[in-house]
Amino acid sequence: MTSDDSLNLIVVEDSELDYELLLAMLAREGLKPRTTRVEDEAGMRDAFAKAQVDAVITDHNLPRFDSFASLKVAKSIDADMPVIVLSGEMSEDLAVATLHAGADDFVLKTRMFRIAAALQHSLQAAAARREARTAVSALAQSEAKLHALTQHLERVKEDERRAIAQEIHDDIGGALTALKFELVRLTRAMTDKQTRPLLDSISQLLESAVVASHRIQHALRPAVLDAGLLAALEWLTRDFGERSGIKVDLIFNREEFEIAPDRAAALYRVTQEALTNVQKHARATRVHVQIFALTDEIALEIADDGQGFEPGSLQATPGFGVRGMIERARGLGGWAEVSSSRRRGTTVMFSIPPQPADTSAEGARKNGD
Ligand SMILES: Nc1ncnc2c1ncn2[C@@H]1O[C@H](COP(=O)(O)OP(=O)(O)OP(=O)(O)O)[C@@H](O)[C@H]1O
Ligand SMILES: [Mg+2]
Repeated sequence: MTSDDSLNLIVVEDSELDYELLLAMLAREGLKPRTTRVEDEAGMRDAFAKAQVDAVITDHNLPRFDSFASLKVAKSIDADMPVIVLSGEMSEDLAVATLHAGADDFVLKTRMFRIAAALQHSLQAAAARREARTAVSALAQSEAKLHALTQHLERVKEDERRAIAQEIHDDIGGALTALKFELVRLTRAMTDKQTRPLLDSISQLLESAVVASHRIQHALRPAVLDAGLLAALEWLTRDFGERSGIKVDLIFNREEFEIAPDRAAALYRVTQEALTNVQKHARATRVHVQIFALTDEIALEIADDGQGFEPGSLQATPGFGVRGMIERARGLGGWAEVSSSRRRGTTVMFSIPPQPADTSAEGARKNGD
């Protein structure tokens, strides 16, 4: 809090006598603030413009002004400014009304001895309000930064995966294909029967290397851009089922629908992460993957029959999968939710508009061309 002698107050008061009494009451409690006495809005604004003000003490009833108007001026300059209303009239309604209007305290002129304590309390309350406001805005800022960072991370991950898939395709894929041709030529050229089993075994190894490289490429860069989202999900769920031994079914309400490529990739990635979570955490025997396509919403649901987890434990997890889903949805103008309870399985819901808001067909029509 400001030290007493550096306090700067605006006193809205028309009566010289009451003003002197107020100063005397403050002095009696050891308070010797700098004060500016004003009688109207212009005077108040002038005083605010001239110096940093710590509090306003305002008479309720002035010839050209009243405490509601002075409160309004003070709060318009600083929403946290402490304001104390002085009144000659004992009225509960008035006291309540001024407190509602934002006054920190209401002091009767007949009980002016309360003013010093009221001022101290009001200054403390204002300091607490300012602190809370700063904390809230700092929290909002760091939350916004976290959202931006997570979305950035998702984009970077996607770019990185695409680049690695491309490298595997161009370098390793190219070399493997060339090797296959060379092996065929070698097999033709070798007439020695003893080398045959060896060549066959090399051929098989080569074939599994080709399959592995395709699988890695698929996982890194979903083929949604080429074959479509449903084809990619069919591949993903089939591959997951084969590798994990967990039964998966894929259900969709429409064979075909329009969706922007980055949004199709997001649906694919969320399914991929949800299935990875099922394998890592769920101990499930079955998973249902559902895609429900509407005109302005594509809803994805992945539900397993596994052991689930305590609702509320998600906040504490260091994992990034679920956070990534939520941020992805938020970044695309949609929402995501993971619900679970012990032994009831887990359901991931992810819903996004199929097109970005402003470039959708609807938006273009509305823009009237
Ligand atoms: N299908 C599921 N069944 C049971 N528990 C799950 C399931 N999905 C998520 N969880 C729980 O939620 C937590 C958070 O999942 P999240 O995907 O965010 O993190 P993670 O899988 O542990 O790590 P990461 O995804 O970053 O590799 C998991 O640690 C797990 O306890
Ligand atoms: Mg995970």
